[in-house]
Amino acid sequence: MGKIIAIANQKGGVGKTTTAINLSSALGFAGAKVLVVDMDPQGNATSGLGVTLADNDVSIYEVLIGRADAKSTIRPTNVENLDIIPGNINLSAAEVELVTEMSRETKLKKVLRGVCDEYNFVMIDCPPSLGLLTVNSLTAADSVLIPLQCEYYAMEGLGQLLNTISLIKDSLNVDLQLEGILLTMFDPRNNLSKEVQKQVEEYLAESIFDTVIPRNVRLSEAPSFGQSIIEYDIKSKGAASYIELAKEMLARLP
Ligand SMILES: Nc1ncnc2c1ncn2[C@@H]1O[C@H](COP(=O)(O)OP(=O)(O)O)[C@@H](O)[C@H]1O
Ligand SMILES: [Mg+2]
Repeated sequence: MGKIIAIANQKGGVGKTTTAINLSSALGFAGAKVLVVDMDPQGNATSGLGVTLADNDVSIYEVLIGRADAKSTIRPTNVENLDIIPGNINLSAAEVELVTEMSRETKLKKVLRGVCDEYNFVMIDCPPSLGLLTVNSLTAADSVLIPLQCEYYAMEGLGQLLNTISLIKDSLNVDLQLEGILLTMFDPRNNLSKEVQKQVEEYLAESIFDTVIPRNVRLSEAPSFGQSIIEYDIKSKGAASYIELAKEMLARLP
């Protein structure tokens, strides 16, 4: 049974999608079978992995509302060992439509039960909110990975996120673990980056990944070509950092 990891932070632009795409690709490159689930209505993980949805193609939205079977929505990507259940703007309706449903928080959990056997990892790319789509993701997950951007106000909102995680642990998902906090867009020449690192280490030392993701322009270029950093520029610092993160994660497995 594959490990399900939600990549979550209610702040936008902190590196959730970049991590979903590139950590998954690095794990695939290392030989693990990986499924990305795009739970963000912006669909950036989908397009960033070169997958386009035609009007009548089904996505995670149709699966969540019970109109399609999860297996039928799985699409291969150009990356070795990496598949995706795509998402798009239709998902924003799910946030509303699911509200009146029975067991609305456990929809994704049930969906993934049928597919996660075939993978070593399932990576859920969460939207930038703590709404029903993120709650579904955290309820379905074994663990949560929190990207934290090394910028002003990095820690802002972290308390609220950790609080949400602990509420979900108390009610919907007692086994939910913290996979780790990942420092992203780190710039060693910028004192602020080092300041953020120091602050997080002070409060949450045991939860931080050893691997730090540097700010690297190649990482921001790759999605516009529908490619992961492994395909786009495997020699870049960005690729090296996500390969290192994949190794760190694999080394932790029991
Ligand atoms: N390590 C990095 N170096 C440079 N740019 C990055 C890095 N990580 C993310 N970005 C860029 O920052 C923006 C926000 O990242 P993204 O992964 O989409 O965040 P989120 O999914 O949390 O909203 C994107 O334009 C992305 O290409
Ligand atoms: Mg995103």
